[in-house]
Amino acid sequence: MKPPVLQAEGLRVTFPGKGRRQGVTAVDDVSLRIDRGETLGLVGESGSGKSTTGRAVLRLVPLETGRIHVDGEDVTRYRGAQLRRLRRQMQMVFQDPYSSLDPSAPVGSSIAEPLRVHEKMAKQARRDRVEELLDLVGLRPSHADRYPYEFSGGQRQRVAIARALALHPRLIVCDEAVSALDVSTQNQVINLLEDLRERFELSYLFIAHDLAVVRHIAHRVAVMYLGRIVESGPVERVYSQPAHPYTQALLSAIPVPDPKRRGAKRILLSGDLPDPSAPPPGCPFHTRCAYAMDVCKREMPAMTPVAGGGETACHLQTTGPTLAGRPLSEKEVPA
Ligand SMILES: Nc1ncnc2c1ncn2[C@@H]1O[C@H](COP(=O)(O)OP(=O)(O)OP(=O)(O)O)[C@@H](O)[C@H]1O
Ligand SMILES: [Mg+2]
Repeated sequence: MKPPVLQAEGLRVTFPGKGRRQGVTAVDDVSLRIDRGETLGLVGESGSGKSTTGRAVLRLVPLETGRIHVDGEDVTRYRGAQLRRLRRQMQMVFQDPYSSLDPSAPVGSSIAEPLRVHEKMAKQARRDRVEELLDLVGLRPSHADRYPYEFSGGQRQRVAIARALALHPRLIVCDEAVSALDVSTQNQVINLLEDLRERFELSYLFIAHDLAVVRHIAHRVAVMYLGRIVESGPVERVYSQPAHPYTQALLSAIPVPDPKRRGAKRILLSGDLPDPSAPPPGCPFHTRCAYAMDVCKREMPAMTPVAGGGETACHLQTTGPTLAGRPLSEKEVPA
């Protein structure tokens, strides 16, 4: 068995406070595994720590604790030239391609930039490789001379993907990469990502707040709440039998084309996300959880396996009336 492309354990990232602003532990005890050719979806409300997790695995933010293995090699302490080499293998695609594409340069030069910087490739070789990359993402060679503003949102995202592919990465972190696109363009870009994954045995960490999108592309999904992963598992199990009340609430907020769940009442998330700089004690979700018990206010639940695959951090799984790992009946859905 090949080692996973990415194995992260116990990641913790804290942003220090400034002046009267409290520090925030944006990522707390997060562990992830992504195999070769696999897509892991990462979902959760705004501010739950998804982007920071993506940046942490690429070693773009300092880790307070935790270990990161890439292809079986411990890269946690990589620096300098080692880190630069590592970053070639792991790329990021953002929601807003303007953050990776220079608006004042033809896209061909943005796509060629990593080739120039990292590979010291000669001009003609670079031009050939840019054409090849444009072709891979379904664009024409002549597109190289156009500026980012001359593209549609979907085309611009294709350009960003071409740039990310330039150095033959193994892992691409897609941070809300299709979130700004309309549904049909989203589908086209997702199909492209799927083709590329199969062709090059790529792995994705696919970050999105839209659970419907993640269902289409991910093999496994991890759900974040206030910096922690509260549930993870194969997409089929998590979407049909969510174990954590937070996952259940997130899923019930989207129209699910599953006849078994159709007609089920929506579980609305009551209240706002607590202040991430002062998370509640015990289970971080207890302040909004319809099933909160006394123990939830005191003790952080440990990750425990769920029937059907994956795991969840919820006291319901080990104590009390277990709802975990099976769909809610009509009676159990809180009004
Ligand atoms: N550079 C930073 N400095 C200080 N705090 C930060 C920084 N980046 C993120 N945070 C804080 O860390 C927490 C997690 O932020 P993050 O951007 O990772 O969330 P997210 O899940 O990606 O949210 P969104 O869905 O809105 O993109 C938030 O409380 C945020 O305010
Ligand atoms: Mg984000």
